[in-house]
Amino acid sequence: MAGKKKLFVKTYGCQMNVYDSERMQEALGGQGYEPTAAPEDADMILLNTCHIREKAAEKIYSELGRYKGLKAAKPDLKFAVAGCVAQAEGAEIVKRQPMVDLVVGPQSYHKLPAMAKALDGGARAIDTDFPLEDKFDHLSARAKAKRAPAAFLTVQEGCDKFCAFCVVPYTRGAEVSRPSARVLDEARQLVDQGVREITLLGQNVNAYHGHKGGLAGLIWELADIDGLARIRFTTSHPNDMDDALIDAHGQCDKLMPYLHLPVQSGSDKILKAMARKHTASQYLKIIDRLRAVRPDLLLSGDFIVGFPGETEADFQDTLSLVRSVGYGQAYSFKYSARPGTPAAEKATVDDATATDRLHRLQALLSEQQTAAQNAMVGRETTVLFEKPGREAGQWVGKSEHLQAVHVLTSQAGKGDLVKVRITQASSNSLQGEFLEKVG
Ligand code: SAH
Ligand code: SF4
Ligand code: F3S
Repeated sequence: MAGKKKLFVKTYGCQMNVYDSERMQEALGGQGYEPTAAPEDADMILLNTCHIREKAAEKIYSELGRYKGLKAAKPDLKFAVAGCVAQAEGAEIVKRQPMVDLVVGPQSYHKLPAMAKALDGGARAIDTDFPLEDKFDHLSARAKAKRAPAAFLTVQEGCDKFCAFCVVPYTRGAEVSRPSARVLDEARQLVDQGVREITLLGQNVNAYHGHKGGLAGLIWELADIDGLARIRFTTSHPNDMDDALIDAHGQCDKLMPYLHLPVQSGSDKILKAMARKHTASQYLKIIDRLRAVRPDLLLSGDFIVGFPGETEADFQDTLSLVRSVGYGQAYSFKYSARPGTPAAEKATVDDATATDRLHRLQALLSEQQTAAQNAMVGRETTVLFEKPGREAGQWVGKSEHLQAVHVLTSQAGKGDLVKVRITQASSNSLQGEFLEKVG
């Protein structure tokens, strides 16, 4: 009897791609594919790609190039490209790399089984439509196997904001929310499979409207699920941070005190040119309101430096916004002109200047991150044990504030919620001593 075919999946980009990769793996399971961690064993190599910056997109072609030897040794090996590069470049991918057999955009993953079947007949399959049906309604049911304690759950996709630099509205399409009843069913199933923490995902997750109470309404219903201990969500847009969601941060015990709220720049001139539709002081006001209800909220953000027209004074405005917020964690990027976006038409800041700004911003952000880590020493927090650490008897999990914590103990294990006291901090992780199991 022929053995099962093997599928190797490599994921780039944001958490939504991580979630989608799982769903694609499950969908291809029905076509006789089982996952492998070794590309050399694979019958199909699937790259789930990201188009957000030029480097991310170009990486895909160098990655494909690296697999040429495998293809030579195994001519039946299939290559599939999914995700945002697939959506943005479509059939162009095959022109640039003829080895590619299948190209599928993010809204068409439910068609993967039929597309994979077509490959067996030697055909190519390309689908980058934005179909009217909801892919989630047509994707195969989720696998029933036991799962890791922390899971992602996509509740909203796409973006209608059209920031001047960003490809997401083009690669993911218009904002669509999954109905809350479906999300709650999936969440209950995840909990039955051992999940204790769910991170709700969306390109603009706080624009969620699949529940009459918006994202806050969904969070409150999720909080009623027995066995679910923690809820997080990402990524939010400042303009969709409504009162109900801010209040939930103060009142919902299961909602963790961590918020990723990108601002991109501290200069009103640049924010306007970026079409962010808010000012720096409006952003700061939202942070104040959040901290008023949840003083220990840890904030994370995204920043772009070197956006067209950014002067040293604009950049100083970004530094001073960062100083007044005090981030616990953040991502910063050099502006990358993306084809088809309005900003791509504008003259860019020279690369050396942008690189220099990036380094200065990163130095400040990393100083703030170290301070936030050090501030944890001596404090008590809960940790959800996710996996064994490198040392014998050690467990690794996340704090309430999403910091990695290492704990040596034999009194708790995977999936346990444990109260610890933080004893040591480094810039990327914390050490904690076991106090008691709390769930
Ligand atoms: N929906 C989220 C972010 C999606 S993209 C939001 O609204 O903030 C993730 C991050 O990538 C962005 O926050 C931005 O900081 C960065 N990014 C997006 N387009 C970029 C570009 N063209 N160049 C550099 N960074 C970019
Ligand atoms: Fe991109 Fe702006 Fe939409 Fe975020 S809000 S995904 S940065 S267009
Ligand atoms: Fe990248 Fe697409 Fe996510 S462009 S960041 S994978 S939505």
